Amino acid sequence: MNQKGDIPRFQAKENSPARTNSGGEGDSRNRGMSPFSLRWVGDAAGQLEILDQTRLPGGLEWIVCRDVDTVVEAIKALRVRGAPAIGIAGAYGMVLAAGETAGHGLGPEAARAHVLARAEELATARPTAVNLRWAVERAVAVIADLPADTTAVALADALLVEARAIHAEDRRLCEAIGRHGAAILPAGDILTHCNTGALATGGAGTALAVITTAWDAGRRFTVFADETRPLLQGSRLTAWELVQRGIPVTVLVDAAAGHLLATGRIAAVIVGADRITACGDAANKIGTYGLAVLAEAHGVPFFVAAPSSTFDLAIDSGKEIPIEERAAEEVLAPLGVPAAPEGANAFNPAFDVTPARLIRGIITEKGVISPVSREAIREVLGG
Ligand code: MRU
Repeated sequence: MNQKGDIPRFQAKENSPARTNSGGEGDSRNRGMSPFSLRWVGDAAGQLEILDQTRLPGGLEWIVCRDVDTVVEAIKALRVRGAPAIGIAGAYGMVLAAGETAGHGLGPEAARAHVLARAEELATARPTAVNLRWAVERAVAVIADLPADTTAVALADALLVEARAIHAEDRRLCEAIGRHGAAILPAGDILTHCNTGALATGGAGTALAVITTAWDAGRRFTVFADETRPLLQGSRLTAWELVQRGIPVTVLVDAAAGHLLATGRIAAVIVGADRITACGDAANKIGTYGLAVLAEAHGVPFFVAAPSSTFDLAIDSGKEIPIEERAAEEVLAPLGVPAAPEGANAFNPAFDVTPARLIRGIITEKGVISPVSREAIREVLGG
C-alpha cells in the first residue's frame, strides 16, 4: 500500500461480464464522499451490484449479482461484509431468488418453495451476524402474507419493496447512531477495530458513523485503526474510508493496541457488533474482546455501536452466539503470501464475544444503553 494514503482510485480490470467498474449514480470516487457497499439497479428483474471489498484499497470493482449463488459466494468470501450490509445483501438476494423462477414455467407453489429454499441458503451464508437471518426472515414474512396463488413476478416485486425498505431503514439507523454516539464521544483520539463504516452498512456506518458525525460537527482527533488480522478490514477498509473523508487515520498492528492504550493517548475505544444478546454480551470481529479487556485495564471507556437489528434477544449469554471459523489459509497465508511452514495448523475464529460488563455503553439508533443491563436494553429497544 502506498504510504502517503494516495490510493489508486479506479483501476480498470479485465472485462468480466460479472463485474463492472462503473459505479454510476451515487458513485463516490471523489475524495470527501463515502463509498456505498451495494445497490439494486432496475426493477424486480434487475440486479444487485456489490462493491468487491476484497479488492480494496487497490481499486473499485462492482460484482453484478443476477442469482442467489453469486450473492452467497460474495457474502462467504467477504466481498460484501459487515453485519448490516450482509443483511441488506440477503434481502436483495431474496428478490433474485424469486427472479430465478421466472421463465421456468413454475406455478406459484413451486416458485414459493424455490424462494424459501434459497432463503435458507442466504440466511446461513455466515453464522455470526444476526442481521443476515433477520433480514431474510423479514422477506420470508412478506411471502407468508401473500396469497398462495401469487406469481413469481409478483413475489419478486413485493420482495424488492421490502429489500429497499430494509436498505433505506439502515441508512436512517446509521444516521441516528452517528448522532447519539457523537453526543457522548469523549474528546480526544479514538481507537477502533475492524470496519464499521459505509462499507459495512447501507448508510454511513455504526461505530465509524459516530466518528465521522463527530468530525463533521467540528471535533478534531486522530482515529487509530487496528489493522484487524487476518483479513485487514481495519487497514484496508477503515483507513480507506477515513482517507476518503480526509479524517486523520493511523493504522496499528492489533498487538500494538495495549501499548497505545498504556500511553494514555486514547480517549475512547469504539467498535461495532455482529450480534448482541439480551444481557448485552456482544460478538464482534476477532480481537475485540482483547481490546475491551485492555481498555478496562487502562480505564478507557469501551463503546459498542449497533442498530437494533443486531440484537438477538432470543439468547441471553454470549456463549450461545455461533462463532464463525474460517479457512486456515487466511492465517497461514494472509493475502496469499505464505506466513507459516507447511504442516502448521491454524485457529481462525472470525469473531469473539465481549461480555457486557466490559462495555461502557451500547449506542443504538434509539439511544445509548448505559450502563448495560438486560433491563436497560429492553427499555431502550422498547421490547
Ligand atoms: O467479518 P466481517 O468483516 O464481516 O466482520 C465485521 C465486523 O466484525 C464489524 O465490526 C461488524 O459487522 C459491525 S459492522 C457495522
